[in-house]
Amino acid sequence: MIDRRGFLTAGAAVSAAGILAACAKKNPAKSSSSSDKTGGGSKQITLGFSQVGSESGWRAANTQSVKEAAKAAGINLKFSDAQQKQENQISAIRSYIAQKVDVISFSPVVVTGWDTVLKEAKAAGIPVILTDRSVETSDPSLYVTLVGSDFEIEGERAAHMLEKVLAGHTGPVKIAQLEGTTGAAPAIERAKGFAKIMKASHPEWSIIASQTGDFTRAGGKQVMAAFLQAHSDIDVLFSHNDDMAIGAIQSIQAAGKTPGKDIKIVSVDGVHDGFVAMSKGQINGIVECNPLLGPQLMDAVKTVHAGKGSTLPRWIKTQETDYTADQAAAALPSRKY
Ligand code: AHR
Repeated sequence: MIDRRGFLTAGAAVSAAGILAACAKKNPAKSSSSSDKTGGGSKQITLGFSQVGSESGWRAANTQSVKEAAKAAGINLKFSDAQQKQENQISAIRSYIAQKVDVISFSPVVVTGWDTVLKEAKAAGIPVILTDRSVETSDPSLYVTLVGSDFEIEGERAAHMLEKVLAGHTGPVKIAQLEGTTGAAPAIERAKGFAKIMKASHPEWSIIASQTGDFTRAGGKQVMAAFLQAHSDIDVLFSHNDDMAIGAIQSIQAAGKTPGKDIKIVSVDGVHDGFVAMSKGQINGIVECNPLLGPQLMDAVKTVHAGKGSTLPRWIKTQETDYTADQAAAALPSRKY
């Protein structure tokens, strides 16, 4: 059975054990000791990591976390930035296979279209760990685990945040939605989670405009300007990330409206600039999506390299919180990203 993040849950552990056994068989040298660069008596692990791009503040924090955690763990990191293009990620993964790295990790820009390259990694005996975003595959043995957030739950949390923001309000609520990158797991699942709560509990809410802003400030600004031209009656903006919300704030101001008052804004991420906007009352609530995945990823890499990948959960989730505007100023100084 395929669950909401596209995982085949049944038999997943068995399949993960299968791929790891196959990897150990094909690359016995990968798990044997030769030099001691880590100080732990084993060969230094080489990790090939393909990042989505540098589209947002969240992504910058995620990249920094991966690089710092690799350094702290004594892992040799090969890093590449795919500039939001799937073909660049596929090329990077193929290059890591050719370089015979020990483990491959990537944050897939979109959910579909990975089976061929993942099968190539499997055939080469190189285990794959997904980070941040999931993929849709009919073969669960093509990756060992995912380190990342539950985006559908984030969408549900955003709807519950809007309930708080609208407390006391009666009557219809017209919502504009700025979607993340089309086909990306966080865009699909945040929209789904939000719509689920809306359908179950809020017949008075309606999404009157919804379009991708590609998770960028420029995209959020441009799409919000078009929304405002087409609709003079937007009550709420639900933005799939802070960067698009920050871009949208500029368009709302340019249209002579006050962000956070005339148009209430709920967004996702919790990056520093999102908190700054929230402390000014321009964003009303933020659902945190934690980008600091590096330490959990490096722990998983070490476990997989030690041949114990089958002991890992299929999905290693992150800790996250929600913040309302009245908490923003107090929380801002301690934000880590
Ligand atoms: O996959 C996580 C999402 O990607 C973040 O919410 C967004 O800011 C980033 O671009």
